[in-house]
Amino acid sequence: MSEDRTQNGDGAPTLPLVVGRGVADQTRTVADAQVTMTQLMAPQDANLFGSVFGGVILAAVDKIAYVCATRHACHPTVTASFDQVDFRSAIAIGEIVTLRAAVNTVGRTSMEVGVRVTAESVHGGPPRHTNSCYVTMVAIDEERHPVPVPRLELRTPEEYRRHRDAEERRNSRLELARSSQQRRRES
Ligand SMILES: CC(C)(COP(=O)(O)OP(=O)(O)OC[C@H]1O[C@@H](n2cnc3c(N)ncnc32)[C@H](O)[C@@H]1OP(=O)(O)O)[C@@H](O)C(=O)NCCC(=O)NCCS
Repeated sequence: MSEDRTQNGDGAPTLPLVVGRGVADQTRTVADAQVTMTQLMAPQDANLFGSVFGGVILAAVDKIAYVCATRHACHPTVTASFDQVDFRSAIAIGEIVTLRAAVNTVGRTSMEVGVRVTAESVHGGPPRHTNSCYVTMVAIDEERHPVPVPRLELRTPEEYRRHRDAEERRNSRLELARSSQQRRRES
């Protein structure tokens, strides 16, 4: 839930803005938890067609989301959900894949981490955007119960836009989870 204390005439909030419903007296910036990981795609990453298995990329996304969320939470985290992932182009063996992750928004115990994946030739050249995904991570204690996370300080208009979009996705996600639970109960 955002603390939309002050607004400019155009509806944009005055930054910085602190959002979240977790630990009231702990705040971390987006930059505090941002992570970049690069890896070379090797022969063991290949599918039957000689390009990279989608699962290799998903595993890398899950790992970087874990690092980013755990940095923000200062607690272990687990993956609660993955949004739809569309692969825009194949990745070749021998290419370098770079993943960039940032916390887009936080709730009470959950965080949405946005991950952007690009691929490029090892010899240089422009990076290609291959996919982006949104991963919901939840901070947990020793008994695997959800625990509150620090609030998130948004400092730039881009961070605010990502947070606002993430809140919309969170509402749709929870609505979807509720309706599938309902369907399971009825079946
Ligand atoms: C994720 C998990 C800890 C949530 O536990 P829970 O008892 O459902 O907890 P709650 O209902 O209190 O929800 C906790 C938070 O998770 C969020 N959440 C729960 N299920 C979710 C889902 N399917 N999608 C998105 N968010 C979800 C809730 O909205 C809540 O967020 P908030 O505190 O910021 O408001 C639990 O379901 C779990 O341990 N799942 C397995 C995780 C795992 O092992 N992942 C790896 C798979 S190999």
